[in-house]
Amino acid sequence: MISLWLDDRPPIPGDQLDRDSYDVAVVGAGLTGLTTALLLAHAGRHVVVLEARHVGAVTTGNTTAKLSLLQGTKLSTIRRFHSRKVAQSYVDGNLEGQQWLLRFCESHDVPVQRRDAMTYAADPGAQVDRARAEFVAAREVGLPVRWEDRPDLPVPTAGGVVLPDQAQFDPMDVLEALAGEFRSAGGTLVLGRRVVGADKVGSPVLHLDDGRRVAARKVVLATGAPILDRGLYFAKLEPLRSYGFAFDHADAPQVMALSTESTAHSLRDAPGGAAGTRLLVGGAGHVVGRARSEADRLDRLREWTHRYFPGAVETHAWSAQDYASHDHVPYVGALPRGGGDYYVATGFDKWGMASAVMAALNLSAQLHGNTPSWAKPMAHRITGPRGVGRGLAMNAGVGAALAGGLAEAAAHPESRTAPAEGEGRIEREGAVPVATSTVDGRTCRVSGLCTHLGGVLEWNDAEKSWDCPLHGSRFAADGSVLEGPAVTPLDQRSRGEDRHE
Ligand SMILES: Cc1cc2nc3c(=O)[nH]c(=O)nc-3n(C[C@H](O)[C@H](O)[C@H](O)COP(=O)(O)OP(=O)(O)OC[C@H]3O[C@@H](n4cnc5c(N)ncnc54)[C@H](O)[C@@H]3O)c2cc1C
Ligand code: FES
Repeated sequence: MISLWLDDRPPIPGDQLDRDSYDVAVVGAGLTGLTTALLLAHAGRHVVVLEARHVGAVTTGNTTAKLSLLQGTKLSTIRRFHSRKVAQSYVDGNLEGQQWLLRFCESHDVPVQRRDAMTYAADPGAQVDRARAEFVAAREVGLPVRWEDRPDLPVPTAGGVVLPDQAQFDPMDVLEALAGEFRSAGGTLVLGRRVVGADKVGSPVLHLDDGRRVAARKVVLATGAPILDRGLYFAKLEPLRSYGFAFDHADAPQVMALSTESTAHSLRDAPGGAAGTRLLVGGAGHVVGRARSEADRLDRLREWTHRYFPGAVETHAWSAQDYASHDHVPYVGALPRGGGDYYVATGFDKWGMASAVMAALNLSAQLHGNTPSWAKPMAHRITGPRGVGRGLAMNAGVGAALAGGLAEAAAHPESRTAPAEGEGRIEREGAVPVATSTVDGRTCRVSGLCTHLGGVLEWNDAEKSWDCPLHGSRFAADGSVLEGPAVTPLDQRSRGEDRHE
């Protein structure tokens, strides 16, 4: 599956690694990494970006790209966990991020469409209460929202909150402009090189998957889920996967809408396509590796779209994941036990277009010894009982997923027949879970245990990948790493390898 943004786009070029040591190494070439790198390069630092795959390969190239300060029910959720001051800090930081990105797009001729953002209730009752709560929370932090009893949408609605004049774009246009500007400013963009480790003593030295080492005074981990475990972020993040479609559809609503349902529906339009306008639909989200069938989720979202947008012609279907922090506010700053040399930015909870830039502005200031005043309440927040409770619930979910995976593997002894095309299964070979799948006529057998912390993998029947239900690492059928906190591929298993261990 490939997103509308990544399809039919020439690759963004990179550079050779030209030195052994830099002022700053930024790991990850998504929106967070490239914006941070550009800010630091403009400030005169020698910066290298190290990207495992290609620019925009993971979340940013697969996002919905609504650049909005009204973010579903985000503000009312933050208010349930934190003081008004923290919520204000989040909105002020997002406004900084949003305005920086809009200025950048304008000065680099990146097309942007201005649209109202809407959080709508799909039916009366609790959903209207949630939308109303968002209206109150948004007003409290000074956003000029209005309430509409009958939003003009071709889907069922029972009222919604609207924030005028937000923005949307093609995220790959943004990344292309950021990468170009970064390289023009003297930065080095290295693609196709995964960071697989870091020295823990002295100044940072990063280990690459080709055996090379890169030294840097400071390291920024802009990898989605942080790849180093010393901050224990994997235990404080929930990996959330959801699905996107693009349709040719002349009557796509010109509003960026998101429902308050627990499995929300997202709508926006985009220019282009056979009808002159495209409709983008998102939703069907779940914790990574914990859906019974990802393909069924995709089908349900497709059916929902055809019900309310008859005649829409599907052109693209894709899926992607982002990480929610246990207290709903992103983690941005120095990595605990990182000696003040490692920094992270994560936990954008599917609202990274403004938050990733907010994080980049914050990190580049921190690397110059300052913390922006708008960031301080977020940085100094204390986890209250709700946050502790959610952290415990998240880890109980991880424990249940681990136990379930082990039981599932134990119940399925090795089979002699290869899985059918597009299918994968976990089986027990001796005591060891092995993941066997057939994709494009090729049968692969790899370890069924995630290389991060040993979760038993689940087959993703939409993406044809092995997904970890613990902290969201994902691997291709051949065992190579796709995303998540894991950095090493799955071991290859030849048939019967463990029988005599
Ligand atoms: C379905 C979906 C819809 C969304 N819609 C919106 C929206 O409408 N509005 C909004 O504001 N936000 C949205 N988001 C959230 C937003 O897209 C993300 O928060 C944002 O793109 C995160 O950017 P990033 O740079 O932090 O991560 P990424 O874009 O994932 O970049 C991380 C990069 O790090 C690289 N990497 C990882 N590990 C290594 C390693 N070991 N070595 C080297 N490189 C490595 C990866 O290959 C990747 O390129 C959505 C998210 C999803 C999943
Ligand atoms: S991602 Fe942590 S165990 Fe798999």
